[in-house]
Amino acid sequence: MGASLVEIASPEGLYRLKWEWERERTGYSDLLSFGTADMDFRTPAPVLDALKAVLDRGHLGYPGARESFYEAIERHFGSIGWHFDARSSVAQNVGIYMSALSAIESFTSPGDMITILTPVHFCFRRMIVLNGRIPIECPIIQGEDGHSIDLARLEACLKSGSRMIWLCNPHNPIGHAWSREELEKVAKLAIANDALIISDDVYSDLMFPGHRYTPIASLSKEIAYRTATFHSTSKAFNTTGLKHSFAVIENPVLFRKYMDTLERQDLEYGLSIMGMAAVEAAYRECGQWLEELMAGIAERHSFISSYVSENIPQLKVLPSNAGYFAWIDMRALGMDPKSISYALETEEHMILANGAELGKGGAGFSRMNLATSMDNIREGAERLGRFAERHS
Ligand SMILES: Cc1ncc(COP(=O)(O)O)c(C=O)c1O
Repeated sequence: MGASLVEIASPEGLYRLKWEWERERTGYSDLLSFGTADMDFRTPAPVLDALKAVLDRGHLGYPGARESFYEAIERHFGSIGWHFDARSSVAQNVGIYMSALSAIESFTSPGDMITILTPVHFCFRRMIVLNGRIPIECPIIQGEDGHSIDLARLEACLKSGSRMIWLCNPHNPIGHAWSREELEKVAKLAIANDALIISDDVYSDLMFPGHRYTPIASLSKEIAYRTATFHSTSKAFNTTGLKHSFAVIENPVLFRKYMDTLERQDLEYGLSIMGMAAVEAAYRECGQWLEELMAGIAERHSFISSYVSENIPQLKVLPSNAGYFAWIDMRALGMDPKSISYALETEEHMILANGAELGKGGAGFSRMNLATSMDNIREGAERLGRFAERHS
């Protein structure tokens, strides 16, 4: 991204799952990894400085949550029209999935049905199943003109007895933030069917230029009172290794239930001194960095979309307005969807996330992580072209 705030991190001394570990696992020194959802960019300087300042204070004991932590959260979300009292509604945790698991444990019982919009990150289904709940899959309507929620099907899921909707906004893997109008319809269905909503909004800071993120809880207090929203600096500011997240739960009764669960898990006390410092710095000082980042991601998305449409007629990149993914339709290749990733890895030494593992509607699609250098994306595009040619 040129002489800019956003820089590719030097690999020296790093042992990342996405690169060093994958190269070791496969034995391919020329492996191109577009799988694991974190970024190859350096964590923004204000966040790194805040973490160094914590170290310089020389004490890493149990931290209290400072007033400035809550204020940073309130200001960050207040600026997009979502207002809440963070002191009484923010509960920290050790990652988005633990935030979600604590909510599932607090608000549902074993045997309950939870509706997910698929294809969605495989952990959603896995977490539901491994914790004795039943996943109900409501496939997203996907097309070259964009994505939408199948509201009739969602209503049918709720009428079949599911009392919880688990949203992902913006949605992984399709890289799409839901519109206010669409969320209003989801909210209406939730209210009409007395369903709770949990919303994984971990990608919400990653909006393409000109697009806006709407938290479903910001639509009205009525909907906020039946919603738990999960946030973290992890995806947008490249802090996944800090293992820190927080839930916003405005309904005091739900908040109390959630805190009781955290107490049972011994997660209500202390928590991450680095995570809190990262939140403050990210939300206060990284606006310009984010703008630059997302201009670069939009450019990469546009590059891969044009490259594919001009050179690889067998594939299609679907439109995106958020996150850092290209969601690629490979169905025209006619391959067994489960084998696509393996074939890409062994033939082209290239890792993409396999849509076949992400629930209904995912088979035949692959997700390419674009948060990497333009050189990697150009090389990846060429390898994709060779792959499509070989399998046509
Ligand atoms: C939608 C979604 N939520 C959560 C996570 C993981 O977040 P964390 O590492 O904070 O648990 C991921 C990681 O890929 C993700 O894609």
